[in-house]
Amino acid sequence: MKNKSDIRILAIETSCDETAAAVICGTNNTNRKSQITNHKQIQISNIQVPNVLSNIVASQVDLHAKTGGVVPEVASRAHMEAMIPVINEALDSADCKLSDITYIAVTAGPGLIGSLLVGFNTAKALAYSLDLPIIPVNHIEGHIYSALSGENPKSETLIRQLADKQIRNSKSQKSNLTIKQFNNEPEFPILALTVSGGHSSLTLVKDHGVYENLGSTLDDAAGEAFDKVAKLLDLGYPGGPAVSRHAAAWREKNSKPETLNSKQIINPKLEIRNNRAMKQSSNEIVFPRPILNDGTYNFSFSGLKTAVLTEVKKLTANNLQLTVSQKEEICAAFEDATVDVLTTKTMRAVSRFKPRGVILAGGVAANKRLKEELNRKVDEYNEKLNKKDKIDLYLPPHDMTGDNAAMIGIAAFYHILKGDVKRWDEIKIDSNLKL
Ligand code: KG4
Ligand code: ZN
Repeated sequence: MKNKSDIRILAIETSCDETAAAVICGTNNTNRKSQITNHKQIQISNIQVPNVLSNIVASQVDLHAKTGGVVPEVASRAHMEAMIPVINEALDSADCKLSDITYIAVTAGPGLIGSLLVGFNTAKALAYSLDLPIIPVNHIEGHIYSALSGENPKSETLIRQLADKQIRNSKSQKSNLTIKQFNNEPEFPILALTVSGGHSSLTLVKDHGVYENLGSTLDDAAGEAFDKVAKLLDLGYPGGPAVSRHAAAWREKNSKPETLNSKQIINPKLEIRNNRAMKQSSNEIVFPRPILNDGTYNFSFSGLKTAVLTEVKKLTANNLQLTVSQKEEICAAFEDATVDVLTTKTMRAVSRFKPRGVILAGGVAANKRLKEELNRKVDEYNEKLNKKDKIDLYLPPHDMTGDNAAMIGIAAFYHILKGDVKRWDEIKIDSNLKL
């Protein structure tokens, strides 16, 4: 088995409905300037950091939009079709050949078994035929590491729409938040809020690869709730971006600017936001905040979805149709409730466990309202602290919030540094894999 000191990883991810491959290399950062984070200057020593050379995602969104959700059989067939072209594109885009690769990384779970199998067996075949070590990665760990993506000068995510075979470049959405990326050794512990279509969890990351699960969803995941609400309101699939757009439209039309208080004025970050007059929802509909005060770090979103259904039934009694404005108000109220629960529980965990930073990751981390509200609460928390104790909020780049293989490669990179690598015949797939 080859085991070169040069780290060049081909990473593969097929846990749900995106066929993804990426090339990650290890870069020595001794030559970099010291990095000034929000609160302190960090001395850069001789540290290896991961660098994303390519990140290719073949999205099945168009396929699943027809059925309003992922059909597992359809997803695995589409993975079979896209897997090899996506790997070739990841190699081409990174300017490298298969023979340059020194490690294979792959998602081993959790996910849809039929989808996972396609990437997993492709990765095993590559590791066997090229005689390379392989690193099985937990999908949630991958999401967490998407925020630890280092400096990615050449990073680009290409999204291939399977339906029309058109390739387009996914540009990061503009946001008033600064995306912070580690390009040094992160300070632990870090609290990670991972919110996606299949998972919602709060995890204390104590060190590389050392996790304590603080809480998870008891029923629906946050993204799943967004998708189900979108379906109830006939807003299409995937639901998250559509619900978020409708909620923003409601706030735009029905908002009052946030009033300044003296504390906010002295915080430069909040001043910036205030210039943009953060919109407050003024909806009459208010949905419950499930298990907000149960003393745990768990989440529950199915009751919230039922509350939306009850509201829709009320508004559509006597054969009435929902107006656009009613849909927008429901979206705003639903987004407010979800964001409130997620950020309140996260900040309670911050107060209790005193992490050095907070990571927001997963598909729902693309939600602007959630990013802004968590950022605001972290700022508020920091106001009470000495400079040296202040914590940072780390977000993945927008094109790494959804499923992608770069995050799998980055997580694998840290496994490699710890010598945690396997042979192709030592790894197992587990659709319910726990962190
Ligand atoms: O991480 P991801 O791509 O796949 C899973 O691992 O599940 O997350 C997909 C989820 C979907 O439920 C989608 O509706 C949600 O992320 N999502 C959003 C937004 N963008 C994607 N939810 C809320 N707001 C968004 N802007
Ligand atoms: Zn995911």
